[in-house]
Amino acid sequence: MNEVEKFEQEVRNNIESLKSDSDLQALSRIWIREVTPHKWAYNFSWLGRPAIQFPNDAWALQELVWKIKPDLIIETGIAHGGSLMISASLLALLDYTDAVNSGQVLDPKSSRRKVIGIDIDIRQHNRDAIEQHPLSHKIEMIEGSSIAPEIIAQVKAAATGYQRILVCLDSNHTHEHVLAELEAYGPLVSKGSYCIVFDTLIEDMPAGLFTDRPWHPGNSPKTAISAYLQQHSEFVVDADIDSKLLITVAAGGFLKRL
Ligand SMILES: C[S@@+](CC[C@H](N)C(=O)[O-])C[C@H]1O[C@@H](n2cnc3c(N)ncnc32)[C@H](O)[C@@H]1O
Repeated sequence: MNEVEKFEQEVRNNIESLKSDSDLQALSRIWIREVTPHKWAYNFSWLGRPAIQFPNDAWALQELVWKIKPDLIIETGIAHGGSLMISASLLALLDYTDAVNSGQVLDPKSSRRKVIGIDIDIRQHNRDAIEQHPLSHKIEMIEGSSIAPEIIAQVKAAATGYQRILVCLDSNHTHEHVLAELEAYGPLVSKGSYCIVFDTLIEDMPAGLFTDRPWHPGNSPKTAISAYLQQHSEFVVDADIDSKLLITVAAGGFLKRL
């Protein structure tokens, strides 16, 4: 084993030992439970736009984008646009590395790589800020319900011709809605790529934690994933990602398409 292989093996061993550390997993769940009423996920921004994310999850997305090198990311749930900026900036970095590797001068607007964001309510101040952002050329926004047939058709049309597609679901977190999103957008995920389902954590939190929302344990993205996976053996949960992150809103939600 060379030094690189040794380090990779060490990381694999770390992940295996985290998988069997039930105390640490419980501690992480308690930490998430305690931080949730403080809306901790609201405290962060990416390139100037608020991102309603746990920072660890953005790191995990970065690792997946580097590995998969998607030419299209589809996201449901825009809010302030922070997650769009995470995706857009990672795609821009892929453009940059392509230019470095090929020895060509980077023309930022020539690449087809882009992120499509869908939200039922794109508030005007958020739309303006996203449209005025230097990365706006990598972003296409579609307003409407992510499970409305006409919106699904619009997204599918916009995805035509793209080869490597990654999907992130972060809109309405009820079982019914997420299951419908999985049915609609799962087929667009390329082989070897991922569908990341956010807020699976709802299932592992106490009932009553999300008082102002329709989702709760028993009616959550995680229950939708269970139902979906029963019918879709082409997807598996990548539990290594959960184990290495520990602090994540998407445990059991990193779905890899085989
Ligand atoms: C948690 S926020 C998204 C956060 C964003 N992905 C980020 O990381 O910054 C959820 C968003 O989903 C949107 N939403 C709710 N129901 C929806 C639906 N049926 N279709 C599309 N978007 C919806 C809300 O308007 C809200 O902006």
